[in-house]
Amino acid sequence: MTARDNKTKPEGNNNGPNRMWGGRFGLGPAEAMQRINASIDFDRQLYAQDIAASQAHCKMLVARGIVAEHDGAAILGGLDTIVREIEAGEFPFRAEYEDIHMNVEARLRELIGEAAGRLHTARSRNDQAVTDFRLWVRDAIDALDGQLKDLQAALIAQAEAHAETVMPGFTHLQAAQPVTLGHHLLAYVEMFGRDRGRLEDARARMNECPLGAAALAGTSFPIDRVMTAKALGFDRPTANSMDSVSDRDFAMEFLAAGAIVAIHLSRLAEELVLWCSGGFGYVRLSDAFSTGSSIMPQKRNPDAAELVRGKAGRVIGALNAVLVMMKGLPMAYGKDMQEDKEPVFDAAQTLSICLGASTGMIHDMTPDAAAMRAATAGGYLTATDLADWLVRVLGVPFRDAHHITGAIVQRAAQRGCDLAALPLEEMQAVEARITQDVFEVLSVDASVRSRTSLGGTAPDRVREAAAAARGRFL
Ligand code: ARG
Repeated sequence: MTARDNKTKPEGNNNGPNRMWGGRFGLGPAEAMQRINASIDFDRQLYAQDIAASQAHCKMLVARGIVAEHDGAAILGGLDTIVREIEAGEFPFRAEYEDIHMNVEARLRELIGEAAGRLHTARSRNDQAVTDFRLWVRDAIDALDGQLKDLQAALIAQAEAHAETVMPGFTHLQAAQPVTLGHHLLAYVEMFGRDRGRLEDARARMNECPLGAAALAGTSFPIDRVMTAKALGFDRPTANSMDSVSDRDFAMEFLAAGAIVAIHLSRLAEELVLWCSGGFGYVRLSDAFSTGSSIMPQKRNPDAAELVRGKAGRVIGALNAVLVMMKGLPMAYGKDMQEDKEPVFDAAQTLSICLGASTGMIHDMTPDAAAMRAATAGGYLTATDLADWLVRVLGVPFRDAHHITGAIVQRAAQRGCDLAALPLEEMQAVEARITQDVFEVLSVDASVRSRTSLGGTAPDRVREAAAAARGRFL
């Protein structure tokens, strides 16, 4: 017998009309209908939030005299059993009940009978789904915040260990001025700190409870929305029932903030890929975060970093999917919105995986201080220090100092030596007033030591900044 043949409505029969909403239907859904409609394969992830919201709703219904105490007790007992069944892997998830909400309610009916039907009083799947989803995104934000903090801790620890380790700082990926590795790593600590701030802002804005908005118009039952909001850890109930069930801006904000996290992770990953390549050789990743080649025995590949770089695309894609899905949707709820979950689930999981791998790579990596120092030689990285010396000591206007320094760099290039190794006479041939003192600013160590401005790369500043970052972020 197929769904089409069956015109009766037997309880528990998969072929009849839907038990939850099928009262006016003669036939059950076509298989293709069920396939496009059912979300249970992914929204089962919302089970804990769905049951928590049902518990809060049930207690409120009892407190307000909308549901009798003994029915409320039966419902709460049944919900406890369902959590246990799900967590033991024994829960019968069924596509014919479409989503997590109806699967839980259908099972509740099997467990406690009639009383199960009272749980859905003064509520709709529309406010139920969005309440669950807000709770889930809130949890995801809290988990990501912890992981971002772990990454910051790993970066700060490396920064402290390498507050004096000099390396080339780049602009245009051309060696520009000497910096310290600690300073470079603390730049990422700032980026991830702002990422945490964006997630926290999104969390604060989303932390209002939609439960009680019902389908879209509110309900005629004397519910207490403040009570359910409080029970679920929300700051307050949402103000407008139509807005409550029809916007997904909290998901979009989460994904937008998450996409920026992914971009920051991807930039860090790209630097790790560069730094452990032969041309740079600045760091060695640990065995635990490297892979070998099946054909080239000498290879140590930074696969984790490459995957972090690559997975940024998924997170950005998730943001795009939800933005485009929401565009032009009329108020209030539309089933399109069921498409909000998979991108969010995938983005949250992807970010979690990428954060774990990034923290591991940073924690375990071994910087090669000698290789980084060697890379600072030969690129005239202290040319700006020479120009600044001409300004400070000789009173030359900076533009002229820039020009003079350019001519001196040209002489160094002709001799094939670094600025610190250029004989004084060569410099004096360009500007007669230059004295022996100039050599004090031409070494890379002197250069970084002199960058003492607030937020600068001087080792003392880096140590202060690392200590401050511990206080601000950890
Ligand atoms: N699974 C649905 C969703 O995620 C639940 C809401 C269904 N509401 C409805 N009126 N059909 O959006």
